[in-house]
Amino acid sequence: GKYDFGLVGLGVMGRNFILNVADNGFSAFGHDLDPEKVKALKEEGGHEASVNASTSIKTFVQALKQPRKIMLLVPAGKIVDSVIESLLTHIDKGDIIIDGGNSFFTDTDRREAYLQGRGINFFGAGVSGGAKGARLGPSIMPGGSKSAYAHIKPIFEAVAAKYNGEPCVAYLGPKSSGNYVKMVHNGIEYGLMQLTSEVYDLLRKAGKFSNAELHDTFTKWNEGRLQSFLIEITSKIFKQKDDLDPGKGDLLDQILDKAKQKGTGKWTSQNAMDLGIPVPSIDIAVSMREISALKAERTAAEQLYDKPEVEVLDKAGLEKMAEEALYFSFIITYAQGLHQLADASKEYDYNLNIATIAKIWRAGCIIRAGLLADISEAFEENPDLPNLLVSPHFVEKVKGSVASARSLVAHAAKNGIPLPGLTNSLTYFDAYTASRLPLNLIQAQRDYFGSHTYERLDQEGIFHTEWE
Ligand code: 6PG
Repeated sequence: GKYDFGLVGLGVMGRNFILNVADNGFSAFGHDLDPEKVKALKEEGGHEASVNASTSIKTFVQALKQPRKIMLLVPAGKIVDSVIESLLTHIDKGDIIIDGGNSFFTDTDRREAYLQGRGINFFGAGVSGGAKGARLGPSIMPGGSKSAYAHIKPIFEAVAAKYNGEPCVAYLGPKSSGNYVKMVHNGIEYGLMQLTSEVYDLLRKAGKFSNAELHDTFTKWNEGRLQSFLIEITSKIFKQKDDLDPGKGDLLDQILDKAKQKGTGKWTSQNAMDLGIPVPSIDIAVSMREISALKAERTAAEQLYDKPEVEVLDKAGLEKMAEEALYFSFIITYAQGLHQLADASKEYDYNLNIATIAKIWRAGCIIRAGLLADISEAFEENPDLPNLLVSPHFVEKVKGSVASARSLVAHAAKNGIPLPGLTNSLTYFDAYTASRLPLNLIQAQRDYFGSHTYERLDQEGIFHTEWE
């Protein structure tokens, strides 16, 4: 018989996704030009009658039930276009192509328009959760044609991660909405990772925490309100011994402090700038990866300046403060990312439901966290919430944790420990919750040197002054 689901790109993600589909009672056929990858899938899943694969795209397409459901798990960029082209010569009107990669959202819009003209339904579906997620249950963020979604819904709901039995997948909106949501997911991911690394730095420098103690602290935190995938893996990272040279101790201490990036976090920041929505906790996470890459320059510059001697604080007190500051800044980072999504939804006519997005992020994805249950409730209660910070669900949480963020940022600033993510999160909070900012001065300066005009507090209208 023919197969329920097709998948192009049998790297680790693709192979795991197919095995996941097969585990859930659907038959799946894979395609990759690399015979080694086809062989690897057959070896791993071949004993199941429901899994097969071929290096021939024609064999692949002919093996699938119509309307064909073909998912691509290939690197973002030109490869997606070339796979689409090679599929086009074999598939039929009404078939469905799903791009499961981290494609840039405007590429998805272009591809969707192109394929629509040929009668093909196209989805951009963000998939989060890494290799393990693909195998055991990812969070899936599909956007595209609503009517075509009915065909892929049963398979996606079966393979997706479950939160209290609810699948972490939902139809998000038209066009590139799925890729856009995944992009912002990754922006938030960058922010949370940066914040976590800062707290690690602070605890070891200002609290003299050992890796073993950090492991205990993060394990404990993961049992509380900071519960999240990133805190969980961080606790495990602190425990890992160096596998290359066990004599060296902990692996983390041997890892070069230069963070790489594939672009999704940067795109989030860039697009936030285009929209005019501030996401400084994400921006700084991108900048810090860039600063980290300047290792040689940093090393040379370190010689030129003295660092203050770090004042060491009591472990228990610092640990409590760090937990509160991290909780505060995690909330701020989600608030910024979701604010961006709400604005993009209007700008690009995505018609996003933020509560639904928060719900499908509760399991499977990299930014899954206990906090997301509270966030989905906040947006369920008020779908038009302009910002998480004004939700009655969050005011008390923020009030109870901001003081620690202030103390930590102050201590770090005095002692020369960079906490840019925490600082930006705090600054964003202080500015977003201030009715009066000093930007009246900027308006005055603009009018002074360029006659750019200004508005007034006390009257309507546009004003210009001949400044003395
Ligand atoms: C996920 C991740 C994933 C991304 C990695 C690496 O949700 O599973 O976001 O899609 O590729 O996080 O991203 P960087 O290489 O840019 O750090």
